[in-house]
Amino acid sequence: MQDAEPPPLRSRLHSQLHSQLHPQLQSRLQSLASIEAALWRELEAAAADRGHEWRVAVLATVDAGLPEARCIVLREVDAVHRRVVFYSDARSPKVRQAAAAPAAVLVMWSRRLSWQLRLRVDLEVLAAGPEVASRWERLALTSAAQDYLAPLAPGSTAGDGEPPPPGRADGHHFAVLTGQVRSADWLELHPAGHRRAAFDDDGARWLVP
Ligand SMILES: Cc1cc2nc3c(=O)[nH]c(=O)nc-3n(C[C@H](O)[C@H](O)[C@H](O)COP(=O)(O)O)c2cc1C
Repeated sequence: MQDAEPPPLRSRLHSQLHSQLHPQLQSRLQSLASIEAALWRELEAAAADRGHEWRVAVLATVDAGLPEARCIVLREVDAVHRRVVFYSDARSPKVRQAAAAPAAVLVMWSRRLSWQLRLRVDLEVLAAGPEVASRWERLALTSAAQDYLAPLAPGSTAGDGEPPPPGRADGHHFAVLTGQVRSADWLELHPAGHRRAAFDDDGARWLVP
């Protein structure tokens, strides 16, 4: 992706002055290329570290023309191929929505970084095949396996009496959701001035926050 001009001089000077007054702000990334590299490093870190603030993202999909959103764990990130990976129950509404309308948005916020990230992704559902089998092999040995072994589909109604007891289906309903990242919208909140940038197939550019 191409790099572009940094923000205007007045805003750079403002930022430099702030950095002098507040030495902890000196490490602020300056170029679009370094910001893009850093956001992918953070995404990779989030997939590897349960404590990372981007580990749980909000995934927004479209359900028959209406918006829908939920929290989801970021399981894998491939920065080279711009791919993100999630796990879900193959019977869940989000999987049905992804199959019917693959365009989705992921939203993340990090207080540590003061960064919001919005990713436009095209989702693909994998419910069988080697990519599913290899991940299920690892998952089946952990307590998380039960998330994909419920006898009834997520969101099934279960009356207004007792909540449904946990049970076990005969087979698993594990599905892998991959998201091909089409564009990224990065927003940094900062006392020296907020900054925002877009990264997509047309290159990288600053946006008005
Ligand atoms: C912190 C957190 C993490 C979650 N991670 C996942 C996940 O990785 N996969 C998943 O299918 N649901 C996950 N959920 C549950 C979903 O948010 C949602 O309630 C459920 O999957 C049903 O969503 P749907 O009806 O949109 O399919 C998570 C919920 C929370 C609160």
